[in-house]
Amino acid sequence: MTDVITTTASTAHPNGAAKTGPLKGLVLSGGQGSRLRPLTATGAKQLVPVANKPVLYYALEQLVAAGIEDIGIITGDTHPQIEAAVGDGSAFGAHITYLRQSAPLGLAHAVITAQEFLGDSPFCMFLGDNFLKQGIAGHARQFLQSKADAQILLKRVPDVSALGVAVLGDDGRVMKLVEKPKTPVSDLAVVGVYFFGPEIHEITPTLKPSPRGELEITDAIQGLIDAGYVVESSLIDDVWIDTGKKDDMLEANRVVLSTIERRVDGDVDSASQVVGDVVIEPGAKLIDSTVRGPAIIGAGATLRSAYVGPFTAIGERCELDNCEIEHSIVLCDSTIREIGVRIADSLIGKQVVVERSAQRPRSLKLLLGDHSSVGLV
Ligand code: DAU
Repeated sequence: MTDVITTTASTAHPNGAAKTGPLKGLVLSGGQGSRLRPLTATGAKQLVPVANKPVLYYALEQLVAAGIEDIGIITGDTHPQIEAAVGDGSAFGAHITYLRQSAPLGLAHAVITAQEFLGDSPFCMFLGDNFLKQGIAGHARQFLQSKADAQILLKRVPDVSALGVAVLGDDGRVMKLVEKPKTPVSDLAVVGVYFFGPEIHEITPTLKPSPRGELEITDAIQGLIDAGYVVESSLIDDVWIDTGKKDDMLEANRVVLSTIERRVDGDVDSASQVVGDVVIEPGAKLIDSTVRGPAIIGAGATLRSAYVGPFTAIGERCELDNCEIEHSIVLCDSTIREIGVRIADSLIGKQVVVERSAQRPRSLKLLLGDHSSVGLV
């Protein structure tokens, strides 16, 4: 269960009532992944893998672990990829309903899009690019047992400028929510996991677009508070990562890999070494190579005279030849060959080729997508 430090409620609403349950799930997998470009120029940011598993899968697994099986997934332009990756949800023990959002018009717009699916049920809204280490089961139980009309999770963070922020009153109640404040109003960030009763549907139709042109969920929650509904907040101590940027993805990867247990199902030749907590998936081959954990080598990947260091996830069917890499994520079907310097702190997409070229003139030959970044030594 997620570690809950404190819980406080806003002013009690006369209508506050225990919920009948069960909770439905609403996972947001639309939007644009502008901060993870170019990976997300064509692909869904919620499918970028953490320890070789799309970040979205962690949200689905944690909802199911909290007893939430009837789940709606909001999708946008990347709908076909999300549907191909999640299917009907049976692999997760869930029943999935896909809800197409006309455009990424904001988190509260996603709630409006899902209104028919949600009906009068209380629900947990989970942002598909948010990662929590310990899950949500405790929070779900707490919400169902409480009389709150909404429950938000807060986490102290050093920089709140890219997040929703809560201001608490002297009595610990949520007074105000501000989206991406230019000057910090508190250090309490709003985590991308929210619990709502059906009262939220009274507020969402009244919202106006924010300065960034979106219907903000922070404004909707503020609307609940202003209308006198009960909004509880829990200050969490769990690891929470909004995986919007490369370093956040690497951090989520590090957190998950730190928990894996050694399992070697692939072929490791006598000249190779597998040290510590390493997963070598079936069909992967290590030839004269060293993998030092925690690390994962995906199914069908081949390592030849390669070194894979701690906190690295190598995707399925990758080929690593005479190279060294650590603290990195490599997506499936990529090739890294004959590189003289160790690669570190890197996020490498699908079907990428990084190789030394014998061609003259000896120069860097780059074919990079828009918004790529290369750090040379
Ligand atoms: O990560 C927590 C933060 O998430 C909160 O602190 C903020 O209050 C909240 O507004 C949100 O901020 P972001 O700017 O990080 O949200 P983002 O645009 O990244 O969208 C979050 C997820 O929701 C992402 O998986 C994409 C999806 N989404 C987003 C929009 C705007 C949709 O499905 N539809 C949308 O219209």
